[in-house]
Amino acid sequence: MTSAGDVDYSVIGVGYTNLRQPDPRIAAMIHAALGDARTILNIGAGAGSYEPLDREVIAIEPSEAMRAQRPSHLSKAIDARAEELPLADQSVDASMGIITVHQWQDLHRGLRELLRVTRGTIVLMVFEPAAAKTFWLGDYCPELAAVEARRDPPMHVLCDALSVGGRRVEVRPVAVPIDCTDGFSEAYYARPERFLDPAVIRSQSSWAFVAQDVRERVQRELAADLQSGVWDTKYGQYRTMPTFIGALRLVISTRIHP
Ligand SMILES: C[S@@+](CC[C@H](N)C(=O)[O-])C[C@H]1O[C@@H](n2cnc3c(N)ncnc32)[C@H](O)[C@@H]1O
Repeated sequence: MTSAGDVDYSVIGVGYTNLRQPDPRIAAMIHAALGDARTILNIGAGAGSYEPLDREVIAIEPSEAMRAQRPSHLSKAIDARAEELPLADQSVDASMGIITVHQWQDLHRGLRELLRVTRGTIVLMVFEPAAAKTFWLGDYCPELAAVEARRDPPMHVLCDALSVGGRRVEVRPVAVPIDCTDGFSEAYYARPERFLDPAVIRSQSSWAFVAQDVRERVQRELAADLQSGVWDTKYGQYRTMPTFIGALRLVISTRIHP
């Protein structure tokens, strides 16, 4: 498969791993949420970001371009998609899905599949659409904010779907560090100049839904505001804020009854 989601990673996935390195502080949160699970399904595994190295990981990734970028020390990813997992019922201890559910063609079918194959905890890392307006980039590009609001599932939808069958769901805000190494858009809250780099824009899939002339307008206006000092007057406090709590969340579904 070239892609099972709403973007073509054979185009935007090229060079993805350079800019989307897993951040160790976010990794620690994800690994803690996975508890003591020994076998872990990583769905929408991409190039392997955030996969624990000390447990058995079954990586599933539909995009060939992303599978090809997995480093050799990680297991080979299986070519399949969330909506149709090639795994037996209750066959893994835990599952993780990191910044992937917004791309699935059928979210509910994919979540039902995760519930079917997972004995214990399911950990998703997502952007909560209701919290997206906290990020200054939306002032420059409401069009991008609108794309994200359309793609990212509302939190109650995820929570309802994952709190079935003796499960409970907890939502934890993820504090993005000032020097975050995983280049999703909020990662650059303190580094506005990064949005002037075309490679950064290419590595963030939501920009693929924004027209070229809008992207050019945003970069032009941001460059002008950085040059004139307007950006720093309005948003300069972010340059030294050690962490930013925006829309990034961990959604953790644990089984409380057998
Ligand atoms: C933003 S990337 C995240 C990759 C990786 N989890 C990470 O954190 O770097 C989203 C991934 O979801 C995958 N994806 C899209 N639709 C999917 C589906 N229906 N089932 C499984 N994975 C899917 C894409 O191919 C892509 O690799």
